[in-house]
Amino acid sequence: MTDGETANEHQRWIEWREQTPALREYAYMNSGFAGPERIAVHAAMRRRFDLELLHGSTSRRALEDRYELADRYRTVMGQLLGGVSPDEIAITGNTSEGINIVVNGLGMQSGDRLITTAVEHGSGIVPAYYQRERNACELVIVPIDSQDSLGEAMESFAGALAAAGGSVKLVILSEISYSTGQLLPLNAIVEETHRRGGLVLVDGAQTAGHIPIDVIESGVDFYAFPSHKWLCGPDGLGALYVREDLIPLVAPTKVSGRAAAEYDLEGGFEPEREKITKYELTTTATALIAGTIEAAEWYLDSGPEAVFERARALNRYADRRFSRIEGVTVVSPHHDATRTGLFCFTVDGLEAADVNAFLQQEAKVVCRSVAQFNSVRLSLHAFNTEAEIDRAAETVERAILEGIPDDVEPAIPPQLLAGAGA
Ligand SMILES: Cc1ncc(COP(=O)(O)O)c(C=O)c1O
Repeated sequence: MTDGETANEHQRWIEWREQTPALREYAYMNSGFAGPERIAVHAAMRRRFDLELLHGSTSRRALEDRYELADRYRTVMGQLLGGVSPDEIAITGNTSEGINIVVNGLGMQSGDRLITTAVEHGSGIVPAYYQRERNACELVIVPIDSQDSLGEAMESFAGALAAAGGSVKLVILSEISYSTGQLLPLNAIVEETHRRGGLVLVDGAQTAGHIPIDVIESGVDFYAFPSHKWLCGPDGLGALYVREDLIPLVAPTKVSGRAAAEYDLEGGFEPEREKITKYELTTTATALIAGTIEAAEWYLDSGPEAVFERARALNRYADRRFSRIEGVTVVSPHHDATRTGLFCFTVDGLEAADVNAFLQQEAKVVCRSVAQFNSVRLSLHAFNTEAEIDRAAETVERAILEGIPDDVEPAIPPQLLAGAGA
């Protein structure tokens, strides 16, 4: 048991492990890329596929099930964000789609100022670059050091905002950086941005299922997140929160009948302005919705605070263990206030992609490398263990001592890396 953990919480992590088959074979530490599914998530999807198989997707029974699941999905995703209305939740395919809905829907114009950080994923920074290219927006990229305290990160942010002068249209921000694992001072950033008349869009790819989220308390305007990472749901589904009063301000970019309040086939058309469903197209993958509900309810029942505390305790353990290895530098935060379940390190003289490949080939440790810092990233979720961290550390020690063979099998097929950026 880790410090401060209750017996019930400890039992919960054991059950989580027992119910996740991938953990039997692998030391799976890659929830920041895609989390491993529990059997119940798979079963919920199979139940829906079976219903479609036996009753056909458009029988009354299957259609009722579809609408019920979609309603429940919005409710559960609203709970996950701290209790927002289901009417503020759009069903998306992934985080990136949610980010694009907001960035492209705000109607940004020449001179509008867009702020982001130098530790964003391609899904945050590339939509910002497109605004610069297409609409001549001004883009400010705030440098943030992974060892900055919350106060220092806020100072850099406020400094960049002040230097940019004038008003801000939109801040695009990961609440946890995928590349360093650093928790950013979201509430303070929201306050400062609102003071300057701007809006804040959170890229929540690394937060949903990882840290407690309360968009009402933080005052965040938009929050995009996926099913498949820390929530350990299936690939191909996500959600976007748009605060109710902002829905009319964000125009849908991809549209179908749901983006019309009224229309006929003789020229009559009234756009939908108020409803969140204007961002959704037509048919969705209902089985994925069923699987994600199961994953999110399990996470909420586990207790978001307890999950985060466990992830941070594992990170502290990894920090101590890896810091003892000569040639290893821990690049994720040492400050507890900015520490999360993402643990990142570099190895002198070795390519992170090779270390990652070696970890998987030699010890069935599944993790990822981050090109921006030539670092290896372990995602430490509540169900991971200290023994798995030891297994990874011992394998890194071997890589340093013996070297990595030239013919090591890449952990990520090269075609997946094409266009993946940093
Ligand atoms: C911070 C961040 N944003 C966005 C993404 C992309 O997420 P999705 O596949 O849900 O669009 C990732 C994926 O790794 C990420 O880490």
